Amino acid sequence: MAKDIILLGPPGAGKGTQAHRLEAEHAMVQLSTGDMLRAAVKSGSDLGKQVQAVMDAGELVSDQLVSDLIDDRLDQLGPDTGAIFDGYPRTEAQAHALDDLLDRRNRKLDHVIELEVDEEALVDRITGRYTCARCGAGYHDRYKQPETAGVCDECGSEEFKRRPDDNEETVRKRMADYRAKTAPILPLYDARGIVTRIDGMGSMDAVQAQIEEVLKA
Ligand code: AP5
Repeated sequence: MAKDIILLGPPGAGKGTQAHRLEAEHAMVQLSTGDMLRAAVKSGSDLGKQVQAVMDAGELVSDQLVSDLIDDRLDQLGPDTGAIFDGYPRTEAQAHALDDLLDRRNRKLDHVIELEVDEEALVDRITGRYTCARCGAGYHDRYKQPETAGVCDECGSEEFKRRPDDNEETVRKRMADYRAKTAPILPLYDARGIVTRIDGMGSMDAVQAQIEEVLKA
């Protein structure tokens, strides 16, 4: 039976990293609003032009816009494939919108997994992060370098890129938004008994092992 889950945590908590690992092990698909918005910016579409400055400043784009993106993606998801919501919902309005979107499809949230992290360490994680420009594989200046320096392990490309919003000032703005707007949605899910808090400061493998335990429940 497919499970629908939310990975929740501040910027750099490891949501994207763990979502990719879950996709490799389970019939689950990552639905990252950040990735969808970045793809729109890259394509130069009207949507991309509309959101680029907001994202570069570390601000949140509109609730309606991201919920519409998720609505479209859920249409493409078969009943046997689970959704990993990554970076969505981020506000109370988005949390209610997600409930509606799932209800309409006879789906329900099975787990909300909060990655508990030390925010100062996250600044270090984020400012060291980069990805392969061709396939999107994720790397880090200190924690995950390619096996051969300058060559992507996954596709052999020698081109890498960094996100424009991965600078310290913007990261701190995004973290403040997480505390003010996203963390307050947790009680909604606590009331349903579906939240598990896990230690997000261990190694990537250790975090993954904790998430796998949650999925067995
Ligand atoms: P989004 O792309 O969602 O960014 P974010 O939430 O800030 O999260 P990140 O992608 O920065 O972090 P992550 O938790 O995925 O960490 P990662 O796994 O990469 O959003 C970007 C922007 O889009 C927003 O600011 C906003 O403008 C807009 N937006 C998106 N969704 C929206 C919404 N719903 N509503 C409104 N606006 C929205 O890991 C980070 C680094 O650490 C990597 O280098 C990784 O290799 C490393 N790492 C990961 N885990 C570990 C570990 N255990 N140990 C050591 N290193 C680790």
